[in-house]
Amino acid sequence: MKIVVIGGTGLIGSKVVSRLRAAGHEVLAASPASGVNTLTGEGLDEAMAGAHTVLDVSNSPSFEDKAVMEFFQTATGNLLAAEARAGVKHHVALSVVGTDRLPDSGYFRAKVAQEKLIRESKMPYTIVHSTQFFEFLGSIAQSGVQGDEVHLSPAYVQPIASDDVADAVADYTVGSPKNATVEIAGPERVRLSELVQRYLKASNDPRTVVADVHARYFGAELKDDTLVPGPGPRIGALGFEAWFALPKAPR
Ligand SMILES: NC(=O)c1ccc[n+]([C@@H]2O[C@H](COP(=O)([O-])OP(=O)(O)OC[C@H]3O[C@@H](n4cnc5c(N)ncnc54)[C@H](OP(=O)(O)O)[C@@H]3O)[C@@H](O)[C@H]2O)c1
Repeated sequence: MKIVVIGGTGLIGSKVVSRLRAAGHEVLAASPASGVNTLTGEGLDEAMAGAHTVLDVSNSPSFEDKAVMEFFQTATGNLLAAEARAGVKHHVALSVVGTDRLPDSGYFRAKVAQEKLIRESKMPYTIVHSTQFFEFLGSIAQSGVQGDEVHLSPAYVQPIASDDVADAVADYTVGSPKNATVEIAGPERVRLSELVQRYLKASNDPRTVVADVHARYFGAELKDDTLVPGPGPRIGALGFEAWFALPKAPR
């Protein structure tokens, strides 16, 4: 079947595109570089022609409050409208575990708006909530830098490798619409501050992580369970050490 992957050149998108092509599907890896821009609507109708399923793994180029809200609201609205015009049968989107528990964060408010548009559309859908990708640990560390220290919340996280995210997202994309949210996570539940300390140590980075319950995670304070999944998530194979040992893992 024809599948359009919006954000098909990104971290998750490129991995899902490879998996879907290897399984024999006709896949359009769509992004502004390939002439498909969900924010402006450019190229959307042409991309949708004959598509059965659309997977949205795009992300906003800016995480600034107003820009990110504009991105997810406008782009998702344009995308769902184009899908309806073309008779698409399944909309799959990647979002984040805990999105609805982070109202102080502009990024997560925008993801809530994206999900609301999907749920309120008439399009059959599957929303995949993932925990943080291991590949995102460097950015998380960077977000907490204060001089020679890194201040981060000790709330629990259960990160997942991008390869495991791609496996799960590819499976949900070729499956039937759930008309619900499903959760995916990594195999190990750990405190964010402790995991980032392990990551920095393994990367030969001498900085110390300071656990601070008031340290904000992309604008929001975290409770212990804000970022962890509920019961029964699909669990990825790779834990932190196995992921870090991969030759391609970013340091
Ligand atoms: N980071 C995490 O830990 C985490 C955890 C759970 C869920 N997620 C979710 O996972 C999703 C994908 O993340 P990622 O890290 O794979 O993203 P990414 O690597 O930053 O890739 C973003 C993609 O979006 C495309 N894009 C940007 N603007 C676009 C537009 N106007 N129209 C169409 N495509 C556009 C980009 O195309 P170009 O390459 O042409 O710019 C790129 O292909 C996000 O929605 C995020 O919320 C992330």
